[in-house]
Parts: sequence; structure tokens; C-alpha cells
Amino acid sequence: MVDKLSEPNSNKNNQDFFRNNVVLAPMAKGGNLPYRRLCREFGAVRTCSEMILAYKLVKGGDKPLLRFHESETDFGVQLAGKKPAIMAEAAKIAVESGAKFIDLNFGCPIDLIVRYGSGAALLKKPGKLAENVAAVREAVSVPLSVKIRLGYTQEKINCVKIAGLAEAAGADGIAVHGRTRAQRYRLSADWGPIEEVAQAVNIPVIGNGDLLTPWDLQRRRNETSVSSFLVARGALVKPWIFKEMADGAAWDISVEERWSVLRKFFEFACEYFGDDEKGLRRVHQFFIWHCDFWHRYRPWTESDFQNQLPNSLIQAREFDMVGCDDLDLLSSSDSADYEKIWERVLSLG
Ligand SMILES: Cc1cc2nc3c(=O)[nH]c(=O)nc-3n(C[C@H](O)[C@H](O)[C@H](O)COP(=O)(O)O)c2cc1C
Repeated sequence: MVDKLSEPNSNKNNQDFFRNNVVLAPMAKGGNLPYRRLCREFGAVRTCSEMILAYKLVKGGDKPLLRFHESETDFGVQLAGKKPAIMAEAAKIAVESGAKFIDLNFGCPIDLIVRYGSGAALLKKPGKLAENVAAVREAVSVPLSVKIRLGYTQEKINCVKIAGLAEAAGADGIAVHGRTRAQRYRLSADWGPIEEVAQAVNIPVIGNGDLLTPWDLQRRRNETSVSSFLVARGALVKPWIFKEMADGAAWDISVEERWSVLRKFFEFACEYFGDDEKGLRRVHQFFIWHCDFWHRYRPWTESDFQNQLPNSLIQAREFDMVGCDDLDLLSSSDSADYEKIWERVLSLG
């Protein structure tokens, strides 16, 4: 293991895999297969599974989370765990089932995961974190990234150190979410330390946090040397964000187009879960879950971006919607209205 740490076997092709793209972040529930397929249609370059607990996979569980759609040509699997041998075994299973890359989750803030010593807990144990990276590196040859936060708490920002250890252990890319574990989603993401990581390592750094508009992306591209970008909540609010990022401009999407995006998700979900009674129950469950993000969409403009903190864009903003019942409905945070949206999408046929 020690030899491994001083002899990284990351290679250039693997590193290039993580360069110059805007990708869909791993997301529990939100990163379900039909939704990833939708994001892929709008230009998400890479897609990633929801977080999978390595020990569960090794025991034969969570197999459905390994599935991907044929359009997901660069689909990867994200693993969480703390035992190098288990992580390595799980990575092999993921690659055998078709994963094109492996991402190790060292940023998950969820209490249950952290109490077990996985996810962000490993930010407090850099040596152990590196052992996990090295074990997975040894087990699989596909591109390997690690996803971290700035540190465990504001007082213990250690992302530069962690990134260096991960690189030395053989990681091909480092995704950094610009918040600490303790912070969760409070305050805007801090891209200063992300840039410090980008300056400190030779492998590509994938910046993450509050990328909600094409101008956010432009700003981070201009102000940092970060190589690629991960988008999470922005994609849940508007899956077409990847088109906006590629065009460098907001898409002035019409109400009809929004309905057809929702219908498309419905169709993809029916294809995946089935459209019999049981399947439709699952589709409905996911659809309603997504409504809780979709309703936050607002046609943000460049001046909104300039005048507000990025994070505040995701909060609802008043709009003059007089005379447009559809916009009212699509912007409503009332769960009764989610059901109306569902009924409407069912009838679109
Ligand atoms: C619903 C949801 C589920 C998430 N699940 C995961 C996960 O399974 N693994 C992970 O590494 N991050 C997960 N995240 C965190 C995101 O990948 C991302 O790091 C974070 O949301 C910041 O990016 P954003 O500002 O673009 O949302 C999740 C985020 C959301 C909103």
C-alpha cells in the first residue's frame, strides 16, 4: 500500500476523461435512470449512479442502481464505504456491470453514513481515505475520481491535502464541492479553496457548487483553472441546464416546451419502471418528487445573476404571471398542484 501511495498509476487517458466537460453530479434519488437519460438528452456529458454503499453491493444488494440507459455512454458508479478491500471488490462489480468510471464519495454529509465512518467522515482520516483510493486503483483500470468537500468543518479545511493524497494514491480526477460537511447547504459554495486544489494537483479538478446558470459557469471558467464542472440542483430544477451551459445562454423555454420536457421524463420513467399499475406507482412517486424541484424554475436573466448571490437564485422569486394559469401551476409549491401537473402530463399522450 505504501509503495502504491508513492507511485501513482493514474494515466493520461484516464485523466483526460475528466477534462473539459459539464457533467451531471451523482444524486441519490434525483440521479434515477430516467432523469439521467433526460439530462443526457440535454447534453450532460457524463452521468453517474446514485451513491451505492460498497458493502451492500458486495453482499449482492443495490444491483438496480448499477443499471444505465444505452444513451449514457460515459456512465459511472459512485461508491461509498470505508474498508479498502470492500471498496475494491465493489468497484470490480461495478466495472463488470459496465461502469465506465468509478467515483468514490468522500463528501456525503448524511449522519447515518458519517457515523458509520464513510462519506465525509473520511475527510477526518486522510490516510484511510488514501488507502481506499489506492485499493480501488489497484482493482480497476477505468478512470477513477474522488468527490470531496472543502473539509469537515470550516476550522478544518483540508481539501488541498486530501486532493494531494488522492492523486498520489492513483485518482485520475478530484471533484470538489465548495462547502464543508458541517455547512451542508448553508451559505454559497466557496470556490476559493476549489481553485487552491486546482493549483496544487496535476490531475483535473471538477468544480462543484451553485452552478445554476450559464453565467455561473462562465464566471468559474474565467476565474479558476478548474477543468470540469459538476451540476446537481441546477439539473433537478431544469434538466435543460446542460443545453444552456453549452450555448452560453439561457434557454427561453416556452410553457409548451416545459410540458413536453415533463412528458418526456414521464415516458422515460414508464419505459424504465413499467406502465402497469405497479410501475405507474413508482413513476408517480418519482414524478412528484421531481415536481418539488421543477417548480423552482424561473427564467433567470444575466442581471439576476449579477444582482444576486448564486444560491439565492434557487429560491422562489416573484414573477408577474397574471393571465397564465399554466405558469402559475408549474411554479406552485403546493403538493396538490403537483398532482394536477401529474394528471395533465398523463393526458398529454
Ligand atoms: C437530491 C440530492 C441528492 C444527492 N446525492 C448525492 C450522492 O448520492 N452522492 C454525492 O456525492 N452527492 C450527492 N449530492 C450532492 C451533489 O452531488 C452536489 O455535490 C451538491 O448538491 C452541490 O452541487 P449543486 O450546488 O450543483 O447542487 C446530492 C444532492 C442532491 C440535491
